[in-house]
Amino acid sequence: MISLGVECTAHTFGVGLVEDGRVLSNERDVYKPALGSGIIPMEAAKHHDQVSGTILENALSKAGIGLGDVDVFSVSCGPGLPPCLLSGVRFAVRVAKGKPVVPVNHCVAHIEIGKLDSGCKDPLTLYVSGGNTQVMGLEKKRYRVFGETLDIGVGNALDKFGREVGLDNPAGPEVEKTAIGGRYVELPYTVKGMDLAFSGILTAALRRREKVALKDLCFSFQETVFSMLCEVTERALAHTGKLEVMVVGGVAQNRRLFGMLTDMSKAHGAKAYAPRPEWCGDNGAMIAYAGLLAFRHGSRERMEVQPRWRTDSVAINW
Ligand code: ATP
Ligand code: FE2
Repeated sequence: MISLGVECTAHTFGVGLVEDGRVLSNERDVYKPALGSGIIPMEAAKHHDQVSGTILENALSKAGIGLGDVDVFSVSCGPGLPPCLLSGVRFAVRVAKGKPVVPVNHCVAHIEIGKLDSGCKDPLTLYVSGGNTQVMGLEKKRYRVFGETLDIGVGNALDKFGREVGLDNPAGPEVEKTAIGGRYVELPYTVKGMDLAFSGILTAALRRREKVALKDLCFSFQETVFSMLCEVTERALAHTGKLEVMVVGGVAQNRRLFGMLTDMSKAHGAKAYAPRPEWCGDNGAMIAYAGLLAFRHGSRERMEVQPRWRTDSVAINW
């Protein structure tokens, strides 16, 4: 069975084609805000409208199939920016021409493609991207959220920090490179119960910009936020007794974060996993794959734009 997935929650417009557990193609184009600016939702949606036709054509031709060969369509309905979600949903419904269209939760899709690519089976998942930061694990047919950010996503914190100190956007990879060989200076560490907050550390780091070398500031920013992430993940690991820890989302590409999670997991007799970089960030194939799982198991989620769709509200029937 061939599934076509459309990703459209924020910056990325992607179309992926999956046949059973095999990815046939995965095409995307990423909206880039003007220099020094953050994402403007209406502009991102306009970008999606402009590139959608070409991305679809490329995905089909790379897979060597036609639209008529697709059995089921899927689209990310949330969480995300309303204009972007609307653009993607309209597109998916239009190209499906009456064939089934499955609504997919973006966070669930990250977990499923992460499991498929990294080979783990029942992980405690740390999902870290621009817009999201959550620690989740499967319990009683739901991905329960054990801890999450109370303000911005950790990737967003890295990007805002990077933008203010003059690094290229997205700044996550730039901060990672600049941090090599840095020394630690203290920054606020904010874990509240099982939740996290990043805006205080961002403000504090920017205040120290004049007095601390950029390398040391990047190093300290990473060490602090990654330690916070590891602490919450560790507590959820101890609570659930799971034997696998998986990190997904754009920030999962960071080697320092993966190293810290690996050490922490070992101390609990668990193993750390991360999908390959192509599967860390937003992409259409993850939507196609999660949509196929949902379709095959008779998922009954509502087909509508859900900007605040909670991961733990989705029934996991597979
Ligand atoms: P979502 O819709 O899930 O919030 P997103 O739009 O933020 O996703 P992703 O591709 O999942 O898109 O993640 C992008 C984020 O990942 C950016 O904030 C970027 O700085 C960060 N990132 C990418 N590579 C690295 C890295 N090596 N180290 C740290 N952060 C990284
Ligand atoms: Fe994402």
